[in-house]
Amino acid sequence: MRVALAYSGGLDTSVAIRWLQVKYGYDVVTVTVDVGQGDDLKAIEERAKAIGAVKHYTIDAREEFARDYVMPCIKANGLYEGKYPLATALARPLIASKVVDVARKEGTDVLAHGCTGKGNDQVRFDITMRALMPSCTIIAPIRDMNMTRDVEIEFARREGIEVASEAKRYSIDQNLWGRAIEGGSLESADKEPDADAFRWVNVDPKLLPDDSGYMHIEFDHGIPVAIDGVRADDDGDGRGMVEMIEYANEKAGRYGVGIIDHIEDRVVGIKSREVYEAPAALTIIEAHRELEKLVLTSHQLRFKQLVEQQWSMLVYSGLWLEPLMADLNRFIDSTQEYVSGKVTVKMYKGAFRVVARSSPYSLYDEGLATYGKGSTFDQSLARGFVELWGLQSIVANRVRGIQTHHHEDRVMQGVDEVSMHG
Ligand code: ARG
Repeated sequence: MRVALAYSGGLDTSVAIRWLQVKYGYDVVTVTVDVGQGDDLKAIEERAKAIGAVKHYTIDAREEFARDYVMPCIKANGLYEGKYPLATALARPLIASKVVDVARKEGTDVLAHGCTGKGNDQVRFDITMRALMPSCTIIAPIRDMNMTRDVEIEFARREGIEVASEAKRYSIDQNLWGRAIEGGSLESADKEPDADAFRWVNVDPKLLPDDSGYMHIEFDHGIPVAIDGVRADDDGDGRGMVEMIEYANEKAGRYGVGIIDHIEDRVVGIKSREVYEAPAALTIIEAHRELEKLVLTSHQLRFKQLVEQQWSMLVYSGLWLEPLMADLNRFIDSTQEYVSGKVTVKMYKGAFRVVARSSPYSLYDEGLATYGKGSTFDQSLARGFVELWGLQSIVANRVRGIQTHHHEDRVMQGVDEVSMHG
């Protein structure tokens, strides 16, 4: 009997190959999906086979990931709990769908993944796999055996499975949209991460450029189409979007931009200290959000924030295929009709901010906004407006006597002070 295993080449999934083989007696078919993690895919295939996989698939899904997962995230300003750009969360449903494809091809409905029972990834894999293949059986050896990382490392040692030295220090997951570093010393939430946790972002003060750098991002209907000179649709090989994001990761990372360090609420109720590197995600989302502020009305912006929060929560918690996602995406797409224009991000020694933005659909009107001459705004209109705007607050305070009391207190205090000092 065959099982299709989502295989990354890391510790969990390598242990899983051998476990499925020895303890369950399966023929293991491994599936490695390239979502821009930048690993040596040939080496991963060889490793899978050396450990015991009977067959291996490498699937290049980079462009699909960029187009169908990362771009919607940009439009949604997708940041879970206001911080995490959802890199891992976005890739899981795509990986799960490729594993299901392979299982169909291999004529099996037994699927496997290397997730533990403590994280979010099991939620994302299980739900997507069941949604796409309702008949499937899902085996998660690490979760099922309640294995800890130490037990896994010991099992790997006994079975002659090589463990990379980095895997002994951290649990890493990375793709085009970001890099998550977990475990080891990072679990002490009260301590700053060691510098060796970081690979994408320059954390060495001596290596940071002394001059500031700029990123010029051009958006069309809410998605970036060019960053500096790198165009998403350039060479016609369908790789443009991927290259553009890789370019942004490299550049912002060089300026020390892109680290996230926060406390995150996992789906299973655990609070965890999460550390990420996501230079492209942070800069592009910030630029996108700033462009939206230029072209959307205040009403659109306020309502969209609610949608963004819900969108991020659904993606985080493994509900990519929940029908509400499609509804939210339709709303978001509708808001993006005029989100076209140019944004400049300035970066300097780990800090970044938007310093310029423009759009043919800009609602910013210098004539209205200016405090200088040439103003087109009739200030006499403001008086009546302000009176009506505050009307209910003023009435409520009068009826409840609140304002009066506070006012009297303050008058009394003032009188005391005056008499004491005077
Ligand atoms: N906390 C992040 C998330 O839930 C990162 C997970 C990283 N996964 C991993 N297997 N190391 O999306």
